Amino acid sequence: MSNSPVADLAPDSLLPVVQDLTRLNTLGLASEAGAFVTLKAPAQLPALSALARQASPLLVLGGGSNLVLPERVPGLVARVAFKGVRLLEARPDAWIVEAAGGESWHGFVSACIAQGWDGLENLALIPGTVGAAPVQNIGAYGVELEERFHSLTAWDVREARYVEMRAADCRYSYRDSAFKHDAPGRWVIVSVRFSLPRPWRPVLGYPDLQRHAKLAGESPSARDVFDAVCDIRRAKLPDPAVIGNAGSFFKNPIVPAAMRDALTDRHPGLVSYVQPDGRYKLAAGWLIDQCGWKGRTLGAAGVHDRQALVLVNRGGATAADIMGLARAVQDAVAARYGVRLEPEPVVV
Ligand code: EPU
Repeated sequence: MSNSPVADLAPDSLLPVVQDLTRLNTLGLASEAGAFVTLKAPAQLPALSALARQASPLLVLGGGSNLVLPERVPGLVARVAFKGVRLLEARPDAWIVEAAGGESWHGFVSACIAQGWDGLENLALIPGTVGAAPVQNIGAYGVELEERFHSLTAWDVREARYVEMRAADCRYSYRDSAFKHDAPGRWVIVSVRFSLPRPWRPVLGYPDLQRHAKLAGESPSARDVFDAVCDIRRAKLPDPAVIGNAGSFFKNPIVPAAMRDALTDRHPGLVSYVQPDGRYKLAAGWLIDQCGWKGRTLGAAGVHDRQALVLVNRGGATAADIMGLARAVQDAVAARYGVRLEPEPVVV
């Protein structure tokens, strides 16, 4: 018999440990969890529900790419590490593909392209996991997750049961879903199914794609779009492995048409996009840039020098540094344009 308590644990049990989270959040904020578990298999989910009743709140961690963590995270942290990708159905009108919540998003997109299951290429290189993707309804270069979403299986931590959700249940809108409005720690997204329309048609409307040399030919492939998106992101967005960041730190604000018209009169360069409901989405990066914040530093936090929507950790930043800079940027934009920017990441 082994004398290690860990070796004697049943495969469906969980033993919380103290864990340094500095490398588990892409902003690279120094942070520690007093109680941390890794979910390797769905069989551990009942044990998670039992643990979460004793140690609350629960923070469900994916790739840590959309989080601002304090130095000490209270309660329980559970990292989702379920793995697996499979084709469920090859229908004449769509590929139905399923991925486990702990798969890396970009790894999953790459695997789909390699298999010829095209349709996610505009979402290449987004950091994070498959399970986190529906939470904020990730989107880039003209495609949003909800447009390729089929359904998902989630574990309801509070009720200790599985729930199947279709798109309507997830209540998707721009960078938003039902999961963001429910109690934090209520759901673990176990697996997500995607419906990738056949025949495949490229989505090339986004200005950066129209300008890209790889997409100038007659009939670009999904691989060409994938490569172009990777090029564009690498040129504009900092790699979290090199400089800590959480992608766009603010959402692009959506305002009534009258407000956008009044702003455009005063600021003719204003970048805005009309929405299906007639309102306008303003380019927050442009607003921040015009306020002179691009490339600036406050404490150990900075505004990225190639994309003003991204805040970066210049080295040793804390949540207070990041949030202090965020507030300074919000105040500057509000004073000049009368619009209050809303942070995109979850601030723990
Ligand atoms: N702009 C500036 N200065 C800047 C940044 C942007 O003038 O510093 C202008 C650009 O020239 C362009 C407009 O603002 O005219 C929009 O910029 P961009 O195309 O870079 O896109 P974005 O609206 O800033 C959004 C997403 C990104 C996504 C890109 C491409 C949000 C919050 N962000 O950024 O998503 O990659 O579109 O689709 O919606 C993320 O969520 O982490 C993310 C990176």
